[in-house]
Amino acid sequence: AIDIRDLRSQTGYITLDPGYGNTGSCLSNITYIDGDQGILRYRGIPIEQFGNGPNFIEVAWLLIFGRLPTEEEYRGFAADLNANANLDEGMKLHFEGFPRAAPPMAILSAMINALSCFYPEHLELDGHDSLRLASARLISKIRTIAAYAYRHSQGLPYIYPDAKLRYVPNFLHMMFSQPYDQFQCDEVVRNALNLLLILHADHEQNCSTSTVRMVGSSQANLFASCAAGVCALWGPLHGGANVEVLCMLEQIHQGNVTPEEYVRRAKAKEGNTRLMGFGHRVYKNFDPRAKMLGEAAEKLLANLGRTDPLLDIARKLEEIALQDPYFIERKLYPNVDFYSGIILRALGIPTNMFTVIFAIGRLPGWIAHWWEQNQTMANKIARPRQIYTGNGQTDYTPMAGRS
Ligand code: ACO
Repeated sequence: AIDIRDLRSQTGYITLDPGYGNTGSCLSNITYIDGDQGILRYRGIPIEQFGNGPNFIEVAWLLIFGRLPTEEEYRGFAADLNANANLDEGMKLHFEGFPRAAPPMAILSAMINALSCFYPEHLELDGHDSLRLASARLISKIRTIAAYAYRHSQGLPYIYPDAKLRYVPNFLHMMFSQPYDQFQCDEVVRNALNLLLILHADHEQNCSTSTVRMVGSSQANLFASCAAGVCALWGPLHGGANVEVLCMLEQIHQGNVTPEEYVRRAKAKEGNTRLMGFGHRVYKNFDPRAKMLGEAAEKLLANLGRTDPLLDIARKLEEIALQDPYFIERKLYPNVDFYSGIILRALGIPTNMFTVIFAIGRLPGWIAHWWEQNQTMANKIARPRQIYTGNGQTDYTPMAGRS
């Protein structure tokens, strides 16, 4: 048995905060969240102001460099993105080694890490210009890697980036064009994906961003730190929830379970069932991104002249949950993942690519946090403590003496 007094004498006092719900790990001036009021701001700008107009690349610049780009800066950055959209042919060979059914998030993480091998000049960044080029490479290439991962899974030829296209249409071109037949990107489609990427671009110390900061705190390079962020994002309680939401909606749509029964199972915690896309560590009110994405999903479907039964099911689940004391008492509201899948589905993005799209969106936030930490004079290696609950001192028993 452990005597807690012995532990104190060995370690001093340690704060135990599982999940770090009450632990501030850093000072940051990138993103502000007020979880009680449902407020989210990037560099002070309310998220709602990104609803109409700006494109994802402007927002990426804002997050990384701290202010909106001038026209000249924007054009220069866009040109860097285009100039760096291709993958090294050596990197392309890596795709051939992956099985067709490989999870795209695994490929994404591996390939982002592999960028460290192809761009050793970015292993240390020493100022604005080197950060700018490394960011442009990473933001541009993640999109190419994502599209190639999809093409590989389908056994389709890779489609090279087209320097005449902007960020979002270029991605859709690499995903969906066929040789000699360019995918025609509708403005409505482009705007919907642009908004989705913006709304995912940063969210302060979430699990993946904290991971990027933690890895970066050891002075690991930007590519390695962001590759770790992709792995953290993959989990179903974080970015992977957008896939789980779709599976849940499909299950209900196929008649395997009613919305009411699903909610009942979530409340009873049957088999760890959760209402996926609901709840948030910080928001104890509506997640403003969920509101915007719900509206965007409806607008997109209307503009495409389509309906989606999964949207009706999502609205029904929301209606049931928001009137239920279980969800009211625990302040569980739809989060960013609840409606994003409906949009991605309408754009023709397959479900196993949903979390990859989230990663493309979140990348500017990861870069901004990695750099902010890198620039902090007081940067300390992240090294939490623990409360040890194992054996007291125990003697080694030779093999022959073990029962
Ligand atoms: N469905 C049912 N019950 C829930 C849900 C849910 N989605 N979320 C939380 N609860 C319940 C918990 O069971 C717990 O109940 P209890 O008080 O009876 O024990 C209570 O609400 C508090 O939940 P915690 O798990 O302690 O909350 P935490 O802040 O640790 O977790 C999280 C937040 C992971 C987002 C959680 O709400 C969840 O699992 N949601 C579903 C998955 C999801 O949508 N993840 C995406 C989050 S957004 C993002 O990462 C992009």
